[in-house]
Amino acid sequence: MTQQNILLVNSSGRFEGSVTRQLSQLIVEQLKVGADNSNLVTRELTEGLPFINEEWIGATFTPVENRNQAQKHVLEFSDELVNELQLADTIVIASPIYNFSIPAVLKAWIDLTARAQLTFKYTENGPIGLIENKKIYVAIASGGVPIGSAMDFASPYLKQALGFIGLTDVTIVDASSINLAGDKNEKVAKAQIAELLEPVKSGEQESN
Ligand SMILES: Cc1cc2nc3c(=O)[nH]c(=O)nc-3n(C[C@H](O)[C@H](O)[C@H](O)COP(=O)(O)O)c2cc1C
Repeated sequence: MTQQNILLVNSSGRFEGSVTRQLSQLIVEQLKVGADNSNLVTRELTEGLPFINEEWIGATFTPVENRNQAQKHVLEFSDELVNELQLADTIVIASPIYNFSIPAVLKAWIDLTARAQLTFKYTENGPIGLIENKKIYVAIASGGVPIGSAMDFASPYLKQALGFIGLTDVTIVDASSINLAGDKNEKVAKAQIAELLEPVKSGEQESN
């Protein structure tokens, strides 16, 4: 029996007509098809999350055993986000391109989850990620910037930042050609989305 713990991370500022929300939801549904049992945790980044600051950085640089109550408290939310990553088998990230890169809330989530000694550490051979054996799908959408082009600072950045903490098995599901909010025939958009789900389906077959 396969148990699938799925973490869905949403970062689009809009709900109505959001391509990345629809696509990531379909990815989640597809993942559930391949599992006997699944548990979904949704992290809605647009509900707001703090930026790291002096107290936060000071707390992370303090060894765990020396942290005072205030420092422990400052790290509580970050600990919660890291815990969600640790518990997940599969992580689905929904990321629009905003101003050539990822939404600021997603960057804030990365800042809060890249934690020295907890999600990465430096060794004599360089840094290594400590979050291992996860499958990542990134549903990414843009209004015109082609994914993988010189103007796309989102997908290479995400791969680098996720890989840094050990999340190296990343499949980018490129929805840059889909605009559900525009005048495109909805049927065409849905057919395109179905095509985009192919890597998710074949990923399941590979692991079976
Ligand atoms: C604030 C903002 C900034 C954007 N910046 C870009 C951009 O730099 N390049 C681009 O191709 N599309 C840009 N877009 C278009 C979005 O990437 C596109 O609408 C995408 O579908 C948004 O994701 P969503 O449908 O999940 O909300 C921007 C949209 C918004 C709202």
